Amino acid sequence: MTANPIFCAIDTPDLGVATRLAAQVAQHVGGLKLGLEFFCANGPAGIREVARASGKDIFLDLKLHDIPNTVAAALQSVIPLKPRYLTLHAGGGLAMMKAAREAAFESADKAAAAPPKLIAVTVLTSFDDADLKGVGVGAPVADHALRLAHLAAEAGMDGLVCSAHEAARLKAEFGHLLRIVPGIRPAADAVNDQKRVMTPPEALAAGADILVIGRPITKADDPALAARRIAAEIGCRTGAAS
Ligand code: C5P
Repeated sequence: MTANPIFCAIDTPDLGVATRLAAQVAQHVGGLKLGLEFFCANGPAGIREVARASGKDIFLDLKLHDIPNTVAAALQSVIPLKPRYLTLHAGGGLAMMKAAREAAFESADKAAAAPPKLIAVTVLTSFDDADLKGVGVGAPVADHALRLAHLAAEAGMDGLVCSAHEAARLKAEFGHLLRIVPGIRPAADAVNDQKRVMTPPEALAAGADILVIGRPITKADDPALAARRIAAEIGCRTGAAS
């Protein structure tokens, strides 16, 4: 294996904690995922700081969802941060996703940067059939997620967030879309609140392209060692032992 598929989810609002963790795990992961919790507390300056401290690719998990014009404008604003991946809700619709794609390409071109890979979120894992019904969607979660995946493919998205259990089916149906997979647990780890987990090798075998791993690394006594062990488990050579 060449590229390291592990993106460590740094889920904290604390800039000091985030930069320390980022520096600790940098040698053993492919990149870092920063989400709303961190962005709301620290903004673009915080993202720059973590990128600088680690030298790693940033996966900006903002799950954008608004009118097309506003999402396009948000894209223009984040392009200078040069995120490698950026999430948005497929539920925002075809026009919103297409506007995001256009804005990503235009702004990246102007900034002489590579456009981020746009990753669509279909149905959040916190939703079940009853929750969907509550917001007026009669279809079961699996059917609605597939419908949104088709919409994302039509809009030219680069990938989908999915569980490892859906990865094989999505690979068969949308082979060209990246599969970004959270809910990963090394065999020896606690499951926490993730219900349907797979180990890193299982998830890769099922068709995952990127493994989003948070607490098994960030809550470990030695985050660098935890990240290095996971990388070794999937046959990735990483930096020096630490
Ligand atoms: O700590 P843990 O490994 O469970 O972290 C998983 C990361 O992936 C968190 O940042 C979480 O928000 C995110 N995520 C998830 N399930 C999804 C989508 C994203 O756990 N369906």
